[in-house]
Amino acid sequence: VAAVSLLTSCETTLTDALPSPQQPEASAARVIVRDARNPLFIPATITNSSFGLTAAPGTATIGSGTTTSVWQYNGSFPGPTIVAKTGDNILATFQNKLPEPTIIHWHGMLVDPANDGQPHQVIRTGETYNYNFPVINRAALNWYHPHPHMTIGKQVYNGLAGAFIIRDAEEAALNLPTGKYEVPLVIRDISLDKSGNPVYSPTGGGYFGKTPLVNGTKDPYLDVDKTVYRFRVLIGSTSRVFKLKLSTTNLPTNKEIPFTLIGNDGGLLPSSSNQTQIEVCPGERLDVLVDFGSLDPSTKVMLQDVNAGWNLLEFRVTNTSASYSGALTVTSSIPTLSAPVAKRFFSFDGMSKINGKLYDMHRIDFMVPFGQTELWTFKTNGNGPHPVHIHGASFQVISRTGGRGRVFPWERGWKDVVLVNDFETVDVLIRFDAYKGVYVMHCHKLEHEDNGMMMNFEVK
Ligand code: C2O
Ligand code: CU
Repeated sequence: VAAVSLLTSCETTLTDALPSPQQPEASAARVIVRDARNPLFIPATITNSSFGLTAAPGTATIGSGTTTSVWQYNGSFPGPTIVAKTGDNILATFQNKLPEPTIIHWHGMLVDPANDGQPHQVIRTGETYNYNFPVINRAALNWYHPHPHMTIGKQVYNGLAGAFIIRDAEEAALNLPTGKYEVPLVIRDISLDKSGNPVYSPTGGGYFGKTPLVNGTKDPYLDVDKTVYRFRVLIGSTSRVFKLKLSTTNLPTNKEIPFTLIGNDGGLLPSSSNQTQIEVCPGERLDVLVDFGSLDPSTKVMLQDVNAGWNLLEFRVTNTSASYSGALTVTSSIPTLSAPVAKRFFSFDGMSKINGKLYDMHRIDFMVPFGQTELWTFKTNGNGPHPVHIHGASFQVISRTGGRGRVFPWERGWKDVVLVNDFETVDVLIRFDAYKGVYVMHCHKLEHEDNGMMMNFEVK
């Protein structure tokens, strides 16, 4: 049984000495009702399993007549939504036309290390990287974004991110909403200067933009038919944690509208459930059904962030009804990982270290036997929250103590990011049974990752 001891840090880095930037919080009573007026942008889809992706500087219209300088995949902000099926073979040609090195990581996809787009694999300006991998994941919303060491926060903030949807037979049998009734929602924050260009000046351990964007649209609205919609939510912020809810803003009571949670990072949950508020961190995904069928035409439903008191997206119910005969509740039988044969402990220290160490690209921090179930424990001592993300395998969250003290319904099933708040201890079960080789684990608060809160491990 391998045991990893808790290493405590004796040195203090500059960033750890600075106070942790706190996420600005607001109570629900302070929700600012703004006029949502820009049509929600829906990125184009790529459905061919052989495709090209080019990262380059460009401009995007984010609404209200604002043109913004951003970095884009294929000229789109956010990038195009890739749609593939389990069993497809992906051939992707990536071209770097940015003024600096980068690489694409397929977040949530089970791929071998050569296709994982890790910091060691960055390519220079003008270079090309060829990806070639089979899709072995089950149906889920994954995503793709850059993964160079120390500039990932900046590159994602500048606009490089896109959704990657996987379909499979289990999901198809449910007849869930599709076409215009299945909408990806990439939620993030941004700060813009007077001319409308992004400002990114992280201090110490985080960055909080002043404006929310959904699919790169500022103050967006979406006209919805009176029927069931499926929203594929991806939190694409670098630091900000959102607490999502739906509300009819025209009611003084600011009433919550329940929605049906059916999936998360790793696809369908063991069972769906009705929820009114869900807290989600950078990198996490949600799969939700919302039934607008019983609402009066012209009702406005607002997707809100309770933490910041933000209106994120306004749904405007139209006169058009559409029938829906797909599933309204979902169950999925997910194998339970059990009987861990090894335990590992990871202390997320300050804003840059794991077990007292800064990331070193050339150091393998630990070895993990292939195919062995292990119990990994994540602990934070403050300076959080730390969204912990692991490459190379999905995991199952089995307990949380301290802080919020429980595993939430959206944390069941398979996960690849788990939010660890200050003074929380979270246990997960994990088994690497897809590929051998070197992978990374890191904080998905991208400024923490850039500061060094990352480890290499080798599955062998
Ligand atoms: Cu979404 Cu290693 O990252
Ligand atoms: Cu962190």
